[in-house]
Amino acid sequence: MTHQGFTLWLTGMSGAGKSTVSDRLMDRFRAAGARVELLDGDVVRTNLSQGLGFSREDRDTNIRRIGFVADLLSRNGIIAVVAAISPYRATRDEVKAKIANFVEVFVDCPIEVLAARDVKGLYKKALAGEVGNFTGISDPYEAPLNPDVTVRSDRESVEESVDRVWAELIRRGLVSTS
Ligand code: ADX
Repeated sequence: MTHQGFTLWLTGMSGAGKSTVSDRLMDRFRAAGARVELLDGDVVRTNLSQGLGFSREDRDTNIRRIGFVADLLSRNGIIAVVAAISPYRATRDEVKAKIANFVEVFVDCPIEVLAARDVKGLYKKALAGEVGNFTGISDPYEAPLNPDVTVRSDRESVEESVDRVWAELIRRGLVSTS
């Protein structure tokens, strides 16, 4: 497989499946011998963005930092996979405008399903008012208006989602298997 440098940006609410889909994409990229890095919101917040909270200002700072690093990587021929809620459309669009090859993936899932799954127990806490500024409950999530790929994690398997993202990368000529 050959590839260009690009940023593959997964946005969506907590628990929608961004990390799961990203991890599986990472496996596929690595198996194909690609040069790739993952910037996962949860991980970034323990180092690059340590100390930032969940106000709009802090989230925007987090997203701009992630965008900055993704740009450094992707303009040097590396694939940067980003998995971050990135709830504000304007901030996502700002980052998108700065990065040459940018592919936006919307990991969509109804909030009822997310609250029922509640892998980290955060929806329960947010609904009980124990966690403030929680995306989708007490804080906004602005869905992309024109994502390049939309993944419906409640309706399709991880493998199907990964296949559809992959097909889009091939269609754009960012990844080539010939
Ligand atoms: S972002 O809004 O700045 O893009 P990011 O993806 O880095 O968010 O981090 C989200 C993760 O932080 C969630 O998966 C969840 O585990 C945790 N988290 C803790 N508090 C909140 C909150 N108030 N809203 C959303 N996520 C939260």
